[in-house]
Amino acid sequence: MPLPAKFFCAPMAELSTPSFRETVRGFGGEVVLYSEMLAAGAIVARSRHNEPLIEKRDTDMPFAYQIVGADEAVMAEAARMLEERGCWAVDINMGCSAPDIVKTGAGSRLLSDPERARRIVRACRTAVKLKLSVKMRSGWDSSDPARLVEFARMLESEGVDHICLHPRHGKLGFRRKADWGLVALLKKSLRIPVIGNGDITSPEEALKKLAETGCDAVMMGREAVKSPWIFMLCSELASGSEDEHIIPVRDVFIEVLGRLRNSLPAHLHKSRGHRFAFYYSKNAYFGHKLFTSIRKEQEIDGMIDRVREYYEAHPEESVLRVGGGEKHNGIH
Ligand SMILES: Cc1cc2nc3c(=O)[nH]c(=O)nc-3n(C[C@H](O)[C@H](O)[C@H](O)COP(=O)(O)O)c2cc1C
Repeated sequence: MPLPAKFFCAPMAELSTPSFRETVRGFGGEVVLYSEMLAAGAIVARSRHNEPLIEKRDTDMPFAYQIVGADEAVMAEAARMLEERGCWAVDINMGCSAPDIVKTGAGSRLLSDPERARRIVRACRTAVKLKLSVKMRSGWDSSDPARLVEFARMLESEGVDHICLHPRHGKLGFRRKADWGLVALLKKSLRIPVIGNGDITSPEEALKKLAETGCDAVMMGREAVKSPWIFMLCSELASGSEDEHIIPVRDVFIEVLGRLRNSLPAHLHKSRGHRFAFYYSKNAYFGHKLFTSIRKEQEIDGMIDRVREYYEAHPEESVLRVGGGEKHNGIH
């Protein structure tokens, strides 16, 4: 079965909130959305703290819930519970390299333990009737192409419907460039769809990666937080239209922060507001200065005040011209 879109918005902890997803969907374009990674144990325990992160809206679809964990029974039960809420796919995290995740055997650590990974996938496959996918890095502490292919073929043989590859090994974090040659290799080696991910910063690059690697879709993360309209531009470029758009960057900033305030409990406001502002401030010429002022704020209202202040001082930056076939993305 083909994927529902050529473009995917990456799952990102503290960023892929329902509020942010609403903004991405609002700009349009063909795009699959993800939740941020959700701890399987907390889902199964029905932790109240998890509720706002699990929230799913009609506009989210096509949408994937991503789960993280190392115990197959817990992962399978979490997958089943999330499927019940309605989604397009349940995705298993085999890419996160945060110390508190890998020390439990989860995330990218699973790439060094194929038997445990197999048990998790097998249990989830039995539990989930909808699409089941894996988002992975190219290895735990090295990117050996033969081991990568062997691991991915194991996932395929266990019934995974598609795989997203971020081609850096787990120890690299974001260092060095993503090795898209590995995406091409995986595409050649598997029958199921492959999604490539890593370092894409423009619609032109997204289409180039699709063409060069033959992969079925491309996923964008950090750039999508800075430019939630990128999927609209990708889709337009793919269909040959090159409309120019005026993006109200200031208003979008305020809108996302306001939605975070209105839809998340207060104890999540600071982390979510700061995380979004870190990436989105890069649209401003003096983005570092803007982010530094926002970071001092504990409440969303204070963050919004700093945004208003910045654009009052730099009104010419309030809108951004994008698209139109010329390379003027980012020029005000
Ligand atoms: C702040 C942040 C949080 C992330 N959280 C997750 C996550 O929850 N699950 C996951 O699979 N990947 C996560 N990632 C990795 C991204 O999904 C993606 O693979 C990575 O950013 C590379 O894509 P990019 O170069 O387009 O950003 C995260 C990345 C960032 C920057």
